[in-house]
Amino acid sequence: MPGAASIFASLMFLVLGASGVAATPARSLPAGGNSTPFSPGANPTTRAEVAGYIGDQACVSCHQDKVASYHRTAHSITSTLPDADSIHGDFNPGANILKTLNTNLYFVMEARDEGFFQTAFLRRSQTEIVRRTEKFGVVVGSGRKGQTYLFWKGDGLFQLPVSYWTELNEWANSPGYPDGSALFSRPVNPRCLECHATFFKEIGPLENNFDKASLVLGITCEKCHGRGAEHQARYQSKTPPQSATNGAVINPGRFARDRQIDVCALCHAGGNPRKSVPSLSFAPGDVLEHYVDLPEPAPNTPVDVHGGTVQLLKRSRCFKSSATMTCSTCHDVHAPQRDLAAFVPKCLGCHKVESCGKFAKMGHQIDAQCVVCHMPLQPTQQIISSANGTKLQPKVRNHQIAIYPEAQLQ
Ligand code: HEC
Ligand code: HEC
Ligand code: HEC
Ligand code: HEC
Ligand code: HEC
Ligand code: HEC
Ligand code: HEC
Repeated sequence: MPGAASIFASLMFLVLGASGVAATPARSLPAGGNSTPFSPGANPTTRAEVAGYIGDQACVSCHQDKVASYHRTAHSITSTLPDADSIHGDFNPGANILKTLNTNLYFVMEARDEGFFQTAFLRRSQTEIVRRTEKFGVVVGSGRKGQTYLFWKGDGLFQLPVSYWTELNEWANSPGYPDGSALFSRPVNPRCLECHATFFKEIGPLENNFDKASLVLGITCEKCHGRGAEHQARYQSKTPPQSATNGAVINPGRFARDRQIDVCALCHAGGNPRKSVPSLSFAPGDVLEHYVDLPEPAPNTPVDVHGGTVQLLKRSRCFKSSATMTCSTCHDVHAPQRDLAAFVPKCLGCHKVESCGKFAKMGHQIDAQCVVCHMPLQPTQQIISSANGTKLQPKVRNHQIAIYPEAQLQ
């Protein structure tokens, strides 16, 4: 099978004259990037093993409300197929261009009948402009902070160079690609899909080769609850279970605290390397450490707010001094939670407003704003991007619940 380099060599940039008309011969841009070789046969996942999954629609008949509200959450739509609604960037002329730090390079985004496309235009000399076009294949990100897009080259999955930035409502350079470069070379590894999708089948030889038809996008109910077929069958039978514990379905709410947190830590403790076990082999209830490296950060080392949610929460006195706090103490993953004041009753489950050191001076002004001061939004150092020369860093809620003396009321 061809290696990454030869695959890239075949991804030609079309050479255009300065007028934008194609000229020969075509030449390719330098490849850059590389896929880690994938050892064939490492992943035993077969279609047979997918048996038992029934999909969210099958839950509707008995859990209608949960499915309806869940489908409005960021988890549910964290990856989707591209369409006019799912892509948040603007394709209208004028708004569909991204300039870069390199004055000879810009990108154009287009909606055509055949789909959505990104094209890089690179002026290489007075007389020569090269161009490369790729099609949006997968949308990653619900768009809370932004979205990034993937494209297919055969069965290879790669990141597109242009992303979308919600705060500015603009196209932006994709994180990981240097501003001013016309690379289409970042392979998408299985861990990315493990966190942002439900199912995929690796087909090798490279780690970004997937069976396109196997992709189950978005995070579905069964990612956290396990396969639903037996559960459905039992409740449809003439003698349905008398107790939910005989329901043949995983309820993480019944796990010990560590195992509950592991369900979330699969995706919320950073992109640590997987141990030598196949992708997708973690099931809720398993010990996550058997599956990925989860090094405990030393007490004074900074932990990034993106991807460090679990580690930061574990550093909080709230977490350390309570035996019961889990992610579900504050989060109901089955519905969108956008109102900060709605989290206050969670704090007041364990605290009194009056015990806040600020209460004496500020009184009930602080009532609705515990989160603003004790879990401030802070910029991540991990997802850095740029648009038209401006550096972009999204702000993420710090889960180390603590005293931040500089924090102000909103
Ligand atoms: C034929 C009806 C039916 C279908 C279909 C169904 N469920 Fe259930 N489910 C039930 C019933 C009934 C209960 C028990 C409710 C109770 O006792 O509170 C239940 C309970 C559960 C529980 C809690 C189990 C526990 O230990 O407390 C979970 C989680 C669950 N279902 C998830 C799902 C998911 C996910 C799907 C779709 C993949 C699904 N169910 C499909 C009927 C169904
Ligand atoms: C399979 C990976 C995965 C698992 C498991 C997972 N999450 Fe997430 N979670 C994500 C991703 C990816 C996002 C970002 C979604 C987006 O905006 O595109 C996210 C976003 C969130 C958000 C922000 C939602 C919003 O609308 O602001 C919360 C809260 C959250 N997760 C909590 C949890 C909790 C609690 C658990 C465990 C019960 C959990 N997650 C399990 C991947 C996961
Ligand atoms: C270990 C799990 C994990 C991996 C691997 C991972 N992500 Fe994420 N990603 C998350 C979580 C969790 C969030 C949101 C919460 C946060 O910022 O901590 C997120 C946020 C995002 C967002 C912003 C979503 C929004 O709606 O604002 C984008 C875009 C994104 N990831 C793309 C990717 C791409 C593309 C890859 C792979 C090339 C990738 N991520 C790899 C877990 C992961
Ligand atoms: C990101 C992980 C995650 C996803 C996705 C998820 N759940 Fe849950 N679910 C949990 C956790 C954790 C609990 C236990 C804590 C709680 O009740 O919130 C739970 C509890 C439940 C329960 C039992 C408790 C109750 O409130 O009745 C049902 C039923 C259920 N989920 C159904 C679903 C259905 C149906 C879907 C898809 C529409 C779904 N879940 C998607 C994590 C998840
Ligand atoms: C499950 C119970 C629980 C919940 C929920 C909870 N806390 Fe705590 N919190 C504690 C405990 C226990 C302590 C430690 C008190 C002690 O040791 O005296 C603590 C400590 C604190 C501290 C002192 C931190 C420090 O580093 O000195 C602050 C501030 C705080 N909590 C704020 C909050 C806020 C704000 C919320 C809601 C977002 C919250 N807590 C939710 C149990 C909880
Ligand atoms: C003490 C309450 C509390 C606990 C416990 C908690 N969270 Fe949160 N979480 C919040 C609040 C408050 C927000 C802010 C919601 C918002 O800004 O809309 C939040 C936001 C998030 C977000 C979105 C962050 C962003 O800025 O994009 C993610 C992801 C998340 N939580 C995951 C988790 C996970 C995973 C756990 C368990 C390890 C957890 N949370 C435990 C209160 C909590
Ligand atoms: C304006 C910002 C601000 C708001 C809003 C706020 N706090 Fe605080 N809180 C602080 C600061 C600063 C301290 C520590 C300094 C002090 O004692 O003056 C503190 C201290 C605390 C402590 C630790 C007390 C101790 O003696 O260890 C707790 C618990 C606490 N706050 C809970 C809350 C809760 C619950 C809310 C919401 C009802 C809240 N805070 C709202 C800024 C705030």
